[in-house]
Amino acid sequence: MDFEKNILCIGAGYVGGPTMAMIASKCPKYKVTVVDINEDRIRKWNSDNLPIYEPGLDEIVKKVRGKNLFFSTELNKHIRENRIIFVSVNTPTKTFGQGAGKAADLQYWEKTARQILANSTTPKIIVEKSTLPVRTAETMGQILNGNNKNVQFDVISNPEFLSEGTAINDLENPDRVLIGSKETPEGIRARQEIVEIYANWVSHNRIIESNIWSSELSKLTANAFLAQRISSINSMSALCEKTEADIDEVAYAIGTDSRIGPKFLKASVGFGGSCFKKDILNLVYICQSYGLTEVADYWESVVKINEWQERRFIQNIISNMFNTVAGKKIALFGFAFKANTGDIRESPAIYIARGLLEEKAHIIISDPRALPNARDYFKDIQEDVTFEMDPYRVAKGAHAIAILTEWELYRNLDFKRILKSMAQPAFIFDGRNILDHNKLFKLGFNVFAIGKSPLKHF
Ligand SMILES: NC(=O)c1ccc[n+]([C@@H]2O[C@H](COP(=O)([O-])OP(=O)(O)OC[C@H]3O[C@@H](n4cnc5c(N)ncnc54)[C@H](O)[C@@H]3O)[C@@H](O)[C@H]2O)c1
Repeated sequence: MDFEKNILCIGAGYVGGPTMAMIASKCPKYKVTVVDINEDRIRKWNSDNLPIYEPGLDEIVKKVRGKNLFFSTELNKHIRENRIIFVSVNTPTKTFGQGAGKAADLQYWEKTARQILANSTTPKIIVEKSTLPVRTAETMGQILNGNNKNVQFDVISNPEFLSEGTAINDLENPDRVLIGSKETPEGIRARQEIVEIYANWVSHNRIIESNIWSSELSKLTANAFLAQRISSINSMSALCEKTEADIDEVAYAIGTDSRIGPKFLKASVGFGGSCFKKDILNLVYICQSYGLTEVADYWESVVKINEWQERRFIQNIISNMFNTVAGKKIALFGFAFKANTGDIRESPAIYIARGLLEEKAHIIISDPRALPNARDYFKDIQEDVTFEMDPYRVAKGAHAIAILTEWELYRNLDFKRILKSMAQPAFIFDGRNILDHNKLFKLGFNVFAIGKSPLKHF
């Protein structure tokens, strides 16, 4: 079959896989190929056991895989054959050298750019899908166009705003799609080609076009603003605990103000995920490198509050459990960084688990989707950790339960049965404020939630 367009995506991760599956599903006239250096990942994308869990993803992949969606490890061949190349490789925080701990590590991006260059003999549009520091397109342009092959490359910025757990809906009904380019005739022509892809299912009033630097910076800004709301409400949760105000009531009261709005105002043990922390630290680094110290400090405080909130949660557990958790069994309900994903990257649960292990607690981890990743995380750490899917078995004999992910299933458990099976006095630390705390207290639990007065029987 002849396809109208061939599209390639380099990087078959949480962004590349679902995004390309959506394009393939909405545009049967395009052939979409996703390549990755990770052979195991590609093997899983071609199997019944996809490498990531995302509600609705299996159905879409099954519908289009082998028809107009293909997964492969043959990078060079597909670079040669495709004119439009999305790049969705990882851009983690740098762990070495200049900027370590803050700057984005762009080695995977640069390697990809060089590989594209080495395998190109015809003009190409390179689309930045990964989240990148503002002005990366300039460097990429220099690498790609500083060639002696006379091949023209246009670099476009098209950051991804999907949220794990709701990625399929976010991709199908995006609030907006952002496409930035240089404002040269070639740049605008290339931008229009990418607009055309999304216009197959996204209305034009939701496709925002901008200059390339605004597009790159908007992604970092969006993540910084979202995380800032969480840190703001979490900072207030600490004040609520001192004053008998209730953080959920405060959040509701302020969220009904149409200027503020209700989203991202849920107090919790802290935000996680692969993006918020790394993108804010990247923003901090960029501001510092432009000498904007006050701006850098302002955004860095968002990350600091998050780390403090996680620390506070551990301290709360220890101080309320008679100042020691050594030898005690603590059941962790949830390990994913949020519900409806198996992703544990930067999950607050990691930090909480490690903090409790340092205090010599025995932890037992439960999660409906994240246990394989949790096991993998602890595989080289010889500590007192066990894993169990069934929350009732996890709670058996435990001194305390800590709710670390807001999975729906935890709201509907039989806590009377759970209480009976636990060591007494039994504690619940609700790090997501999802349970009925008064009901649990009446059953006999000692209940500690975020931003609320403790409910204890002693
Ligand atoms: N995860 C999210 O929710 C999310 C949302 C929006 C944006 N982003 C951004 O998208 C980018 C990708 O994130 P992700 O979560 O999909 O990462 P990921 O780690 O799940 O996937 C990245 C993939 O790129 C592959 N890769 C690395 N170098 C490669 C190379 N040279 N050639 C081919 N493949 C290579 C890796 O093997 C990996 O499979 C990041 O910049 C991230 O900040 C992520």
